[in-house]
Amino acid sequence: MESSLEIGFLRVTEKAAIAAARTMGYGKRKYSDQVAVESMREELNRLKMRGTVVIGEGERDKAPMLYVGEPLGRGWTEGEIYPEVDIAVDPLEGTNLCATGSANAIAVLAASEKGGLLNAPDVYMDKIVVGPTAADFVSLKSSVQENVSRIADAFQRDVDELTIVVLDRERHHDLIAQIRESGARIKLITDGDLSAGIAAAVRGTGIHAAMGIGGAPEGVLTAAAMRCLNGRMQGKLKPLEKWQEERLKSMGYLDGERIYDTGDLASGNDIIFSATGVTDGDLLRGVRFFGGGIRTSSLFMSLKTNTIRFVDTIWREEGSKLAVSFA
Ligand code: FBP
Repeated sequence: MESSLEIGFLRVTEKAAIAAARTMGYGKRKYSDQVAVESMREELNRLKMRGTVVIGEGERDKAPMLYVGEPLGRGWTEGEIYPEVDIAVDPLEGTNLCATGSANAIAVLAASEKGGLLNAPDVYMDKIVVGPTAADFVSLKSSVQENVSRIADAFQRDVDELTIVVLDRERHHDLIAQIRESGARIKLITDGDLSAGIAAAVRGTGIHAAMGIGGAPEGVLTAAAMRCLNGRMQGKLKPLEKWQEERLKSMGYLDGERIYDTGDLASGNDIIFSATGVTDGDLLRGVRFFGGGIRTSSLFMSLKTNTIRFVDTIWREEGSKLAVSFA
């Protein structure tokens, strides 16, 4: 991908995060999501590409914007030969987190050459996510206890020095009990297993793994991030309701036991990943508004150029004489 296009993707998540952050704490999760979606779509349509949404807001009949299959970018109208790009978006990951002003809401996008990101169905997925240190040590085929103990070995520390993130859901009753039994510490989160997965792959966040059942679309985005960070994500589709089973069948996902590894979910060689903090989090600061400007904090990665950037951007208002502060 050309570098001008790459950097365009950074701007897309920055703008979506700013739009969502303006609604922080309003208690209106759908509204927060909507403004992020609108912003992301507008910015994506400015880019010199022939983009197609593969992970988005839902199917065309249910989602008017950023639906799966939606064409995005100037390449569809301008007749120029712009690159074909598949796009996975979560304009606001953690809608409740933003609506309540809680930690770890982010705006996220992954892009790749055609076919490089799995068009995963909007059902649940059982996941395990770890960073490079423990990447070769875990498997969804193993028990929770085995995985926890191997992660501890990989980090060369005692099990009780690990922190595992789990979504605080009824369905995780057994998982939580098993992690507790293993002796590892748990961080229960109300939402946002995507940002938890990314945090698990970055040393210094204090998070060593994310486990449990969350959205499959978020799983693909997590896998895209893992490709760039040398982390590992395994996932197994988990239809928890009847309509989800039917959905899987209709999309041709017939092997209910298949374990998808990082490269199955995000197979591209030219993957771009961009996440911008909406609210303050483990890895990224949230959007900060101050007279005359706005400051955003993003994680921007390119697999092809093997670069990982933590980007701190100051958006000065037109004519602003704002002095830049260090932090
Ligand atoms: P939204 O941003 O769409 O609100 O999703 C947040 C999230 O917590 C994801 O991080 C997670 O994968 C999924 O929801 C879990 O779904 P559920 O809330 O149904 O358990």
